[in-house]
Amino acid sequence: KTIRIAAIPGDGVGQEVVAAGRMVLDALAEDSNGAFAFEWTEFPWGSDYYAQHGRMMAEGGLEQLRDFDAIYFGAVGWPTIPDHISLWGLRLAICQGFDQWANIRPVKFLPGVTSPMRKADDTELDWVVVRENSEGEYAGMGGRNLGGRPPGGEVAVQSAIFTEVGCERIMRFAFDLARTRTRKHVTSVTKSNAQQYGMVLWDDVFNRVAKDYPDVEVDSCLVDAMAARFILQPESLDVVVASNLHADILSDLGSAMAGSLGLAASANLNPERRTPSMFEPVHGSAPDIAGQGIANPIGAVGSAALMMEHLGFPAAAERLNKAIEGTTAAGVLPRDLGGNATTEEVTSAIIDNLQA
Ligand code: NAI
Ligand code: MG
Repeated sequence: KTIRIAAIPGDGVGQEVVAAGRMVLDALAEDSNGAFAFEWTEFPWGSDYYAQHGRMMAEGGLEQLRDFDAIYFGAVGWPTIPDHISLWGLRLAICQGFDQWANIRPVKFLPGVTSPMRKADDTELDWVVVRENSEGEYAGMGGRNLGGRPPGGEVAVQSAIFTEVGCERIMRFAFDLARTRTRKHVTSVTKSNAQQYGMVLWDDVFNRVAKDYPDVEVDSCLVDAMAARFILQPESLDVVVASNLHADILSDLGSAMAGSLGLAASANLNPERRTPSMFEPVHGSAPDIAGQGIANPIGAVGSAALMMEHLGFPAAAERLNKAIEGTTAAGVLPRDLGGNATTEEVTSAIIDNLQA
């Protein structure tokens, strides 16, 4: 099978880690006995494109992407452009345009990786943050200078939108995912003590949906308490379902706990498969280390594994994850994980481990 992928490396280390991920995927295909091959089309969208064309992606960009099997994304954002323009102009335009309403972000310890949380070798961390990816606090509703206030008196409103349909689909997704896991536990993250409309709807829907999954254990936790619980009782978590903003923050915390933001993988899914889904590392363009060849490619390769799973090649996904584990277990660690391996060295080691 030929798998057609749209690659959007974007900015900064996005370019470096997408190149690394493509090399690993091509090696995987070469070794698949013809089970699959990749046909890549690269789109040079991002901040350089913006400098030339005044927009982050080509006009009609979504239509150019629509027929691909998947989108493999790096990162977008650069200090020369306000972040809200770059983010909304490309990444959020794709997520929302293709209704990729479920964002999954697994967090797991890798062998050979020390982290602030890993005090003993037997500590385990294995959970998935399920992020509502289409509405909530990032619905893009609101405005500046409401009521035409005089200078110094400006009012800005940023509204969060919660719909029953939006809450219900992400919660069912989380429960279905929990059923595939050993622990079968879902924790809902809320803030319904302070946010008395949207978050109370969120809680109501959660409690209603939970009744359809009597085999799954549930609990709810306020987001502030959840931040502490991530650190203090990580073993109490399995599947964590949260709003767009809450999950965004908590999943960065989770990846730091696993060792580094550079490790974290994610999938932006349209679970109905009406449109292509998008796979990307959780991290951004990392301007502080871009261009030095030292970016950690593991988050991008892990995202490629999520992509293979989504495309119906679970064995290939498993091979990618095992190759990552073999690499870290052997002590081939990039700078952010306390080692000194370059992007290229980590990538070659992953490819060697694929073939091992
Ligand atoms: P960042 O994720 O780019 O960097 C945060 C820290 O993590 C930096 O110290 C960086 O060096 C390190 N880091 C990130 N990825 C790494 C990797 N692969 N290997 C080693 N170290 C890594 O977040 P920051 O600095 O807040 O944002 C930089 C730009 O990226 C901004 O323009 C922001 O808007 C954008 N951004 C884009 C995202 C996306 O496209 N999905 C997500 C997050 C930020
Ligand atoms: Mg984030």
